[in-house]
Amino acid sequence: MKNRKKIRIVCAVGARPNFVKIAPILKAFQRYPQIQATLVHTGQHYDRAMSDAFFRDLKIPRPAVELGIGSGSHAWQTGKIMAAFEEYLLKWRPDLVLVVGDVNSTLACALAAVKLHIPVAHVEAGLRSFNRMMPEEVNRLLTDQISDYLFITSPEAETNLRREGVRPEKIFFVGNVMIDSLKKSAVLAEKRSRVLQELKLKPRSYAVLTLHRPESTDDKEMLGKALEAVAAAAERIPVVYPVHPRTAKRIEEFGLTERLRSASIRAIPPLGYLDFLKLMTHARLVLTDSGGIQEETTVLQVPCLTLRNETERPVTVTEGTNVVVGLDRGKVARETAKILKGKGKKGKIPALWDGRAAGRIARVILRRFARRR
Ligand code: UD1
Repeated sequence: MKNRKKIRIVCAVGARPNFVKIAPILKAFQRYPQIQATLVHTGQHYDRAMSDAFFRDLKIPRPAVELGIGSGSHAWQTGKIMAAFEEYLLKWRPDLVLVVGDVNSTLACALAAVKLHIPVAHVEAGLRSFNRMMPEEVNRLLTDQISDYLFITSPEAETNLRREGVRPEKIFFVGNVMIDSLKKSAVLAEKRSRVLQELKLKPRSYAVLTLHRPESTDDKEMLGKALEAVAAAAERIPVVYPVHPRTAKRIEEFGLTERLRSASIRAIPPLGYLDFLKLMTHARLVLTDSGGIQEETTVLQVPCLTLRNETERPVTVTEGTNVVVGLDRGKVARETAKILKGKGKKGKIPALWDGRAAGRIARVILRRFARRR
């Protein structure tokens, strides 16, 4: 590539789970002088705890551009990001735009790029919950349809994509970049994080809860039901709950603060990456409606109860430690009791979740561009 131009890649991120995924990809790109990668932050997440803490913990370089969009309705947020990102792309004209995950920023940036005829790479393609009430499902479906490189974390994603008419030569099974970050940070989290001392927790003596999906938190009845289901676990083991800002607002708005307290659920502010990783690593079990946490607990071999009716990550159930329990109080009670008796799922690590996914992504891109030039 000596006399050739570099491959200019714009990596777009916006929300908390994106940061965890982009960190290893940027590092992998840095190892190849043929690649010039630039980071753009849409500003979908902007709080210190939701954004800055992750850049610090994962040593992500400062973004070249911050679009500063912030919160709003889905259409407003998606539209604003598209317009601002388009303006940037028109100036910069990269060879490729890379997006990760399934948040509004993912779809908005992919759509802005494809309309300017800039190829798009989607990392974590092909996951399907088959529930279109979830904004993330719509974001995934549409982003995959307009992407040129679909990097997948497990083989069933290929089945989903093929069913939707995606050509096989666009699909690359590379593994899971979220696990690259986890593997890289595990030792550091162990050494640096003081979260257990600060919260006065002993390893394996507590459960961790995360709950922030709109479908379980935006409706008073559903949120009440979710807290009731979690209470069944809290009767058996202390539950620690780092609260996402959207859920914190809803709990207050719906007058559910007392319910949280009476169920002995210990609410704390959202944590940074290293603290949360340490908290999860030493938990007896995790209760969650997040996607990424189902994957992380599988690799950490910590039992996970997913508080949803379905998962877009079935490999965490078939191979990992995940059990989908919905908001069924009885199921949460039964599964918690089982785990506390030492009969929780042990699981195994899915193929290619080995900490080297980002390097595979870089090499696929290099090979493809080498052929084109
Ligand atoms: C987004 C993603 C979700 C992901 C989650 C991780 C979409 C559709 N959803 O959900 O898939 O799991 O991020 O956290 O993109 N807020 C703050 N400070 C912030 C960010 C948000 O206070 O830094 C509050 C605001 O009230 C905002 C609400 O949270 O309106 C929702 O934020 P938004 O970015 O729309 O979606 P998330 O729920 O964070």
